[in-house]
Amino acid sequence: MRIDKFVCRALGVTRKEARDIIKSGRVKIGTKVAIKNDWNVNGEDVFLDDNKLNFKEVYYLMLNKPKGYLSATFDNKLPTVLDLIKGYDKVNLSIVGRLDMDTVGLILLTSDGKMAHQLTSPKKTCFKKYFVQVDGKFTIDDIESCKKGMDLYDGKGKLYHTKPAKLEIINEHEAYLSISEGKYHQIKKMCHSLGKEVIYLKRIAIGNLILDENLKEGEYRELTDEEIERLKENI
Ligand code: URA
Repeated sequence: MRIDKFVCRALGVTRKEARDIIKSGRVKIGTKVAIKNDWNVNGEDVFLDDNKLNFKEVYYLMLNKPKGYLSATFDNKLPTVLDLIKGYDKVNLSIVGRLDMDTVGLILLTSDGKMAHQLTSPKKTCFKKYFVQVDGKFTIDDIESCKKGMDLYDGKGKLYHTKPAKLEIINEHEAYLSISEGKYHQIKKMCHSLGKEVIYLKRIAIGNLILDENLKEGEYRELTDEEIERLKENI
């Protein structure tokens, strides 16, 4: 593995930050100061300021969730999204941002607990983009209503005002809706409040991580290094 990638993963920093650390001459591969970012680590110990860096493999998976699966890691009765993931049994995967049973699309699973927490934190503004089909008709006024926010009840019956959301109308019955929160049934409730019922809902992006169109429902893959880097820009 390249030294910049190693430092990146061991310290949980971006590739750019890792390169700056290497440039400062603080990193050694064995006894040699790492001078170039593309030097490889082939089983040697790696040190930062003479402290050994422990490299723990971190996993990031994107899944195209089908209908009928619960966004949970375990359930007594219902199939969960984790039932679709094979070969990662020993990895403690967290689900980033849950979807309803009947919602399809992008689910991010990761063993990076810190990132999972940050991407869903109400303090951060990470937009999640959805493709929505409704049985009513979207109007230009709906764009303003989503932007201004609306009063809704959350899962605990508490009234809240939604944060500004972006509605992009594709045609009368279809739109993209981007929200930065993840309240219970939020998209369905927002559309209901606009006088329409959701008949199909698919999440297509979490921040700047976009669902790979080549993944069929139920399929998943590991994120590329570039996708991981871009995700980190959201937090
Ligand atoms: N909003 C909803 O109503 N359902 C989802 O699954 C996600 C967002």
